[in-house]
Amino acid sequence: MSAPVVELKAAEVRFASGPPWAKRHVHALRGIDLAIGKGETLGLVGESGSGKSTTGKVCLGLQRPIKGQVLFGGAPFIYRRRALKGALAAVLQHPQWSLNPRLHVGTSVAEPLVINGMGTTRERGAAVAAMLERVGLEPALAKRLPHQLSGGQRQRVAIARALITKPRFIVFDEAVSALDVSVQAQILNLIRELQHETGFAALFISHDLAAVRYVADRVAVMYAGEIVEFASGATFYRRALHPYTRGLQEASELLEEPDAKLMDVAGQPPSQGCALSQRCPLVIERCRAERPPLRPLGDDLVACHRAREALPAA
Ligand SMILES: Nc1ncnc2c1ncn2[C@@H]1O[C@H](COP(=O)(O)OP(=O)(O)OP(=O)(O)O)[C@@H](O)[C@H]1O
Ligand code: SF4
Ligand SMILES: [Mg+2]
Repeated sequence: MSAPVVELKAAEVRFASGPPWAKRHVHALRGIDLAIGKGETLGLVGESGSGKSTTGKVCLGLQRPIKGQVLFGGAPFIYRRRALKGALAAVLQHPQWSLNPRLHVGTSVAEPLVINGMGTTRERGAAVAAMLERVGLEPALAKRLPHQLSGGQRQRVAIARALITKPRFIVFDEAVSALDVSVQAQILNLIRELQHETGFAALFISHDLAAVRYVADRVAVMYAGEIVEFASGATFYRRALHPYTRGLQEASELLEEPDAKLMDVAGQPPSQGCALSQRCPLVIERCRAERPPLRPLGDDLVACHRAREALPAA
C-alpha cells in the first residue's frame, strides 16, 4: 500500500493567549493521529473550539506542532516556503479570506501559479480560463472583482484558485457553511467530481454533519483537542457508537429518534480520565479515573469505555 498523502502522529499544539500578566494556555491538540490517502476525504466534525481548524493548519504546515510528527507523502513535512510547490491548498468559509477584494478574479486564480513560479504568462492565462470553465464559471468572469459575484460564484472561484496548481491535498474548512442549501449541494457535488477527476486527498471540516456525510469516506469526531471517534461514512447513517458523536447527531437532527438526554458539550475538560466525564450521561467511575484510548469497534475506532454497549445486538 502506498504511503498516505498526509499523516499526523501524536500531534500536539498549545497556544498562549491573554495579556502577559494573565497568560492562559490552550491545549488545542492533545495528540492527534490521522492519515488521509490519495482520493480520500476525511470529514472532521466537533463543536466550536474543539481544534478542527488547528488540525487543518497542522496538516497544511501552517501551524507547527510542539510534539509529534507531520508527514507528507510519507516523509517529514518541509516547513520551507514553496518547498512543496503548490501541492497543498485550502478553501475557507468566506471566499473573501482567500480572495483579495481588489484583484480581478482571473488574477486571484492565477496567483498560486505565479507564487510557485509555474508556467509562462500565456500558459497561466489558458490554465485559468480552463479552470474557471471547469468549476462552472464563464471565462469572462475573470475580469470581475469578487464583490461583483454571488456567494456561490465566489466559492467556485476559491475552489478554482485552490485547484489551479493541481494540489495533492486540500483542506476545506467550513467551505460550504456560508452558502444557501441549494448552492451548498452544487458546491459539494463539484468538490466530489473534481476529486474523482484529480484524486486529491481532502480534509473536510464542517459543523454540518449532513454535508460531511455526503462527501466524506470516513469521519473523525473531535472533542477538546482529541479525536474521540473515527467512523466510516456509513456510520453517519445510523446511531454512532460514541456518546458525544450521538450528541452531535441529535443536535443536528441527523437522528430521527434522539436519546432522551442530550449531552451538554460546553466547558473545559478535566485533567484526568475521559475528557467528557463531567457531562456524559453514561459516565461511570472508571471514566473519571482512566482516559479511554481509541480502540477498534465494529468498523470504527472509538474512545469510550462504554461504546461496546452501543453496538447493535448481532
Ligand atoms: N492563534 C491562536 N492563538 C490562541 N488560541 C488559539 C489560536 N487558534 C486557535 N486557538 C484556540 O485553540 C482552540 C481550537 O481552535 P480551532 O480554531 O482549531 O477550533 P475549531 O474547532 O476550528 O472551532 P470553530 O468550529 O469555531 O471554527 C480554541 O480554544 C481556540 O480559541
Ligand atoms: S468514557 Fe465514559 S464519560 Fe467518556 S464518553 Fe464514554 S461513557 Fe462517557
Ligand atoms: Mg474552525
